[in-house]
Amino acid sequence: MLKFVSGSIQNQKTACLVVLVCEDEIVYDDPEVIALTETAEKIKEFTGKKEDVLLLYAAPEHAPEHAAERILFAGLGKKEKVDPETLRQVAGKCVKQMIKKNLADMVICVPARDKLAITPSEASVALFEGAFLGNHVFDKYKKGKKDIPLKTIALFTDAEIAANQRLLPARIETICKGTVLAREWVSMPPNEKRPDRFVRSMVKAAEKEELSFSVLDEKTLRQNGMGAILAVGAGSRSKPRLLILDYNPYKNKKSVKNRKTCVLVGKGVTFDSGGLNLKSSGSMGEMKMDMSGAASVAATLITLARLKHKFRVVGVIPVVENMPSGDAFRPGDIITAYNGKTIEIGNTDAEGRLILIDALAYANKMFKPDVMIDMATLTGACVVALGEKIAGVFSADEGLAKDIVTSGVATGERCWAMPLPEDYKPLLKSEFADINNMSSTRYGGAITAALFLSEFVEDTPWAHIDIAGPAYSKKAGDYCGAGGSGFGVRLLVDFLTGQA
Ligand code: BES
Ligand code: ZN
Ligand code: ZN
Repeated sequence: MLKFVSGSIQNQKTACLVVLVCEDEIVYDDPEVIALTETAEKIKEFTGKKEDVLLLYAAPEHAPEHAAERILFAGLGKKEKVDPETLRQVAGKCVKQMIKKNLADMVICVPARDKLAITPSEASVALFEGAFLGNHVFDKYKKGKKDIPLKTIALFTDAEIAANQRLLPARIETICKGTVLAREWVSMPPNEKRPDRFVRSMVKAAEKEELSFSVLDEKTLRQNGMGAILAVGAGSRSKPRLLILDYNPYKNKKSVKNRKTCVLVGKGVTFDSGGLNLKSSGSMGEMKMDMSGAASVAATLITLARLKHKFRVVGVIPVVENMPSGDAFRPGDIITAYNGKTIEIGNTDAEGRLILIDALAYANKMFKPDVMIDMATLTGACVVALGEKIAGVFSADEGLAKDIVTSGVATGERCWAMPLPEDYKPLLKSEFADINNMSSTRYGGAITAALFLSEFVEDTPWAHIDIAGPAYSKKAGDYCGAGGSGFGVRLLVDFLTGQA
């Protein structure tokens, strides 16, 4: 649980009090916290550099003076360089250390107004986020001894700041729970989340919220002419699905002016073996994460419902398993998508774009959205271009791309705007069908994938976010464990809140 506390720091009963220390200046104005910082400064091996930590225990004879059992000093580096991401990282790291010690709670002192380049409210958001997300452990599948997350995490700040941000802790907790939900789906092993089960799991989570849902099964997909989703799903014993999650605050309301609808589409490939164009064993190992877009979209919808978001948002989530088998689709196949266009299969491993176009074209027709965003672990090429921490944003609508990039800055879920050059479109030409799902060159693969999608969205303002890099990490980060990162939930919630 997240909360604010204020009053005298000496009365804060806690297993661990965290005091933040810059290399160059004290960041507090509370005399008692300043006094604590000065204690740390007397100890030479602690400099306040980023990564630097110092853990002190209250000596029994001093114990009555301070209600905290431990004080953890954590370095922030140079004052002018401290940004929200620094605070998320530091908070996450402190929480992880305390989990290792099996503690139940901690209190972090928030830097005072005008001491950092960011406001106390920005600092509070970042500290809450880093601490909450760092407190998530995924060890469901481990027998033996387990890490136990902290029960409460409090921020110590002055009473006025706390009062002005009364609603903040609950809001951040709701949003970060969305991230954690997405993480757990992504980290789940692929044998436990084949399409039918993964969809049921998303429905089960949605049922508890103010969301309506429908599931198109194989038969309905066929009746609707969704040849692309069906082709990709054909090789698996577990048949494809299209899940629709509808958050509609206009329902049962007659006179709402300026109705607005946003559609979110998420790639849900529960395991991407590559299909008949089988991946090498090295690149197949992490392909349980190929449903990260779906996980983030579903978790975003659930979060928006909990936050009572202002306008209608519909999640359209195609879910398949891409497997080779006697029934699998083949290179050379020509399939017909929902909108009637024919596609020659150049490569069965370029399956994400296929399931997305049926979903995009269907969503566009059924919901006539004002804006449409898809999120997908779409290309290895995007990881080559931007690395493992930054997502690529593709949109012909510059304003839309800019707003997404801005939300990336605010949340630390970084995005970079990429081009959608018209003159690359001929790279997707097919001799036999309207389009090929594979580019004729191996260069610019993230761009050609996005251009392929763009052929199926008509004039609706649309953006594609390629999260192949940041969706998953083999190694733990500062406020994320190894596995799914839940990337995209905080980004989309921030973006959509900004559009309200
Ligand atoms: N799921 C992969 C993309 C991917 C790669 C995600 C690495 C996360 C990490 C996607 O379906 C894929 O296989 N794309 C191919 C496209 C190619 C065949 C045109 C790729 O990127 O190599
Ligand atoms: Zn693939
Ligand atoms: Zn894939």
